[in-house]
Amino acid sequence: MAPIIAVRDMSRYEGQEVTLRGWVYNRTDKGKLQFIQLRDGSGTAQCVAFKKEMAEAEFEIAGKLTQESSIIVTGTIRKDDRAPGIPGGYELGIKQLQLVQMAGEYPITPKEHGVEFLMDNRHLWVRSSRQWAILRIRATIVRAMRNWLDDQGYLLVDTPIITPSAGEDTTSLFELEYFGEKAFLAQTGQLYNEANMAAFGKVYCFGPTFRAEKSKTRRHLMEFWMLEPEMAFFSLEDMMEMEEQFVSHIIQTVLERHQEELKILERDTSKLEKALPPYARISYDEAVERLNKLADQTEDPEQKALLRIDWGTDFGSPHETAIAEMFDRPVFVYHFPSVFKAFYMQPVEGRPEVCRSVDLLAPEGYGEVTGGSERIYDLALIEERARKMGLGLEAYAWYLDLRRYGSVPHAGFGIGLERTVAWICGLPHIRETIPYARMLNRKYP
Ligand code: 4AD
Ligand code: MG
Repeated sequence: MAPIIAVRDMSRYEGQEVTLRGWVYNRTDKGKLQFIQLRDGSGTAQCVAFKKEMAEAEFEIAGKLTQESSIIVTGTIRKDDRAPGIPGGYELGIKQLQLVQMAGEYPITPKEHGVEFLMDNRHLWVRSSRQWAILRIRATIVRAMRNWLDDQGYLLVDTPIITPSAGEDTTSLFELEYFGEKAFLAQTGQLYNEANMAAFGKVYCFGPTFRAEKSKTRRHLMEFWMLEPEMAFFSLEDMMEMEEQFVSHIIQTVLERHQEELKILERDTSKLEKALPPYARISYDEAVERLNKLADQTEDPEQKALLRIDWGTDFGSPHETAIAEMFDRPVFVYHFPSVFKAFYMQPVEGRPEVCRSVDLLAPEGYGEVTGGSERIYDLALIEERARKMGLGLEAYAWYLDLRRYGSVPHAGFGIGLERTVAWICGLPHIRETIPYARMLNRKYP
């Protein structure tokens, strides 16, 4: 019996008889010849049905195959540099064809479709080659993140998804009823990470996080995946050094393994290749100054208004894009004003209005991909900050305990998986970076 193989492994079986199983991506009818592009998840291969080499009934089926019909084919692998496919260069001469299911008229055809239509059909759209490329890169990014951290002595410690109190802010909470009590979906694993940090030194959590953000942007999802490292005895500067090593490892891994996918996405990788440490660093103060200077020099009144910024307000995406454009590689913006940052961020010594926080901005307009800070480790100070922000202290009793028993300076950050995928894949919108996006106007399918 012929071995069952994956399309990706075809080159290893040249001249041999094998079986491929998958779905018809496309078919070209040349009368006595049927060219079937077979998709099996690992790649796409040309399979040729030639009337003279097959049982008549099976050749007849080949001539009727519809897009996405599922089939099992057995035949001999031939090398042919012109054979299309992913990776291509080999084709299968079909000797036997078994129909598993003849697909009904498939809604997604090679013609152009609107985005909303494609999102409604996301359960089918994930089969398309662009989506295939994106989601494969996403999986590699997760693996690269985890491998790097595991190799550096970080321990994966999971944090809960159902939580009794806000982790980040109280405005974007998804509330649920928990046996007669209020509970919330986690916005972050950070507070639990801090407890785990004191147990294991260097930890990270990775999981879905939830933000009920009533904003419809190209960068926001209601449900997104975040990986969050937390390190004992780390300063902000230690963390920036770690972050740039970590992020460039992710990029290099994708560049090494996914040239094929990046080509499908028509990604110009020249800027990605340059994203090597050290990354640029700029303080919030200096960024604001440079943005306003840029606004002064800008003629277009609309652009001018978008760039202008008052000290003490958070960046919008035009600001982030403009700051990123000032550098030829990713840039850290550090020491943000405390007013628009979370309660747990350590104030800068002698300047309590700013905090030891840092965001990493990606080039090419992809904006903030990581956000983090040094954490307040003094009990009295964190109590004061929590109270000021209107957080009920009882709910945070356990978190305050961490400042009571062996409190140490520590720092951590979160990296948004979907923002990272959008950047590396060069996608204009975050909705294609996750298998099933949850957005303001969408929770189907
Ligand atoms: O900056 P954020 O809100 O930081 C935190 O949640 C910290 N507790 C993390 C930490 O220090 N452990 O979110 C971190 C990252 C952002 O930089 C962004 O990449 C991503 O999470 N992110 C989102 N991605 C998609 N959709 C949203 N609505 C996002 N909100 C944040
Ligand atoms: Mg942030």
